Amino acid sequence: MLHAHSGLRWLALILIIYAIFNALTAIKQGRDFEKKDKMIGLFTLISFHTQLLIGLILFFTSAKVVFVSGFMKESMLRFFAIEHPLMMLISIALVTIGYSKSKKETSSRLKFRKILVFYTLALVVLLAGIPWPFREALGAGWF
Ligand code: HEM
Repeated sequence: MLHAHSGLRWLALILIIYAIFNALTAIKQGRDFEKKDKMIGLFTLISFHTQLLIGLILFFTSAKVVFVSGFMKESMLRFFAIEHPLMMLISIALVTIGYSKSKKETSSRLKFRKILVFYTLALVVLLAGIPWPFREALGAGWF
């Protein structure tokens, strides 16, 4: 589970960066919103929701998630019990809202704009909330 969750971060990251880049170039070119564009947004959403499911399983099984007294003073315990889940939930919510708002818009330009704005915000929160290996105290890996 942990390996799946760790590895899937790369897929989620690549997809969201691609979706943002795609929306940005489409707005610049003034082109129509096509099925392919919907699919890019949808696959990003699916990868995020898969992370949510695996993350929830980890949350209830991981040895790093313990609500013992004083856990808030321990940076690693606080990170995995509070900070990581909270930031990831915000990021996943932003992707979900962006996808559904884009779906409801009628003009191509506005569809791309919703993806651009919400997915960019989601990416910022995602990057801040991932336990990168260079944050040594968290003891997480690259894959
Ligand atoms: C797009 C969303 C998410 C991404 C990209 C992500 C990414 C990661 C990564 C890279 C790790 C470190 C894995 C390692 O040690 O190598 C991790 C650990 C963890 N994640 Fe997530 N996560 C996401 C969402 C969530 C959510 C929503 C939850 C909880 C509700 C969650 C709970 C956890 C827990 C508990 C661990 C620690 C597991 C352990 O080391 O025992 N994650 N996550």
